[in-house]
Amino acid sequence: MASDSILEIRNLTKNYGSLKALDGLNLHVKQGEIYGLLGPNGSGKTTTLSIVMGVLKKTAGDYYWFNRKPHYTSRLKIGSLIEDPHFYPYLTLYENLKIITRIKEIPESQINYSLGITGLLKRKYSKFRTLSSGLKQRLAIAAVLAGDPEVLVLDEPTKSLDPEGFSDLRDIIQKEAEKGKTIVLSSHILDEVEKVCTHVGILKSGELVTQGKVEDILSGKEVVFIASENPDKTSQLLYQCPFIEKFEKLNSREFKLLLNKKGSPVELNKYFFDQGIVLSKLVKQKNTLESEFLQLMK
Ligand SMILES: Nc1ncnc2c1ncn2[C@@H]1O[C@H](COP(=O)(O)OP(=O)(O)O)[C@@H](O)[C@H]1O
Ligand SMILES: [Mg+2]
Repeated sequence: MASDSILEIRNLTKNYGSLKALDGLNLHVKQGEIYGLLGPNGSGKTTTLSIVMGVLKKTAGDYYWFNRKPHYTSRLKIGSLIEDPHFYPYLTLYENLKIITRIKEIPESQINYSLGITGLLKRKYSKFRTLSSGLKQRLAIAAVLAGDPEVLVLDEPTKSLDPEGFSDLRDIIQKEAEKGKTIVLSSHILDEVEKVCTHVGILKSGELVTQGKVEDILSGKEVVFIASENPDKTSQLLYQCPFIEKFEKLNSREFKLLLNKKGSPVELNKYFFDQGIVLSKLVKQKNTLESEFLQLMK
């Protein structure tokens, strides 16, 4: 297993009676990713996150945090928001978070830190019941951030947020990611995942349809793998090729390309042939995401 592995799920299955909520799920989240678990309602997102947070029993399969089986020391490095947290309506935000710092056994100084990050400092002494639903959701995020955990696990964090709340949440998540944290979040809204996440795993009826970089999977652009016996010239031509958005060299002979909207594999092949290069491989990444399915989640 790679040393940068944060969460690995293998063959995870969950049955509720005769209903298979998760059916041999595999997925992998690595250090520094903002990983979006994307799927329609009922696809198994909450079930997955509840199991890996230890609040729901699996039926079969395994999961590993930081390359090891579930262990309380790993749990301390993870902040999670799975169900609506319970806050006391007549206590202030500060008092509510104070209870959380006691439970998490972290210093009270963490309260100002997490209220600061979530922009709630000026409401520190407001009673919880006076908050709008967007601000309540922000307090829930503040509670997750208290203790400065390495990993954040957020189940549908954007629900009950208006567009402004969403963009604030996105900023918070991106700032946390810049500090080197890893974030796993779920959503049933394609656009949200596209705007927030670096990586995505698409869930359908408890199975992973695909996973990878957001730009490769959600952009609708084609990913193509090519190989040639003359990699230097190929590389040089790739720089000049008008149909390519970007490319990377995979090994001494192979390249992975992202075509732009003008490009197609046929044109690419012709382009190289016209320049005297015969490609020894040209494979289009299988597009497993029927556009209807993605449309469903728009
Ligand atoms: N406690 C439960 N008992 C029975 N079925 C459940 C229970 N929780 C979830 N399910 C079912 O499991 C499937 C996955 O649910 P869930 O993980 O909540 O999906 P999502 O979070 O993607 O909307 C759904 O068909 C749901 O109805
Ligand atoms: Mg859910």
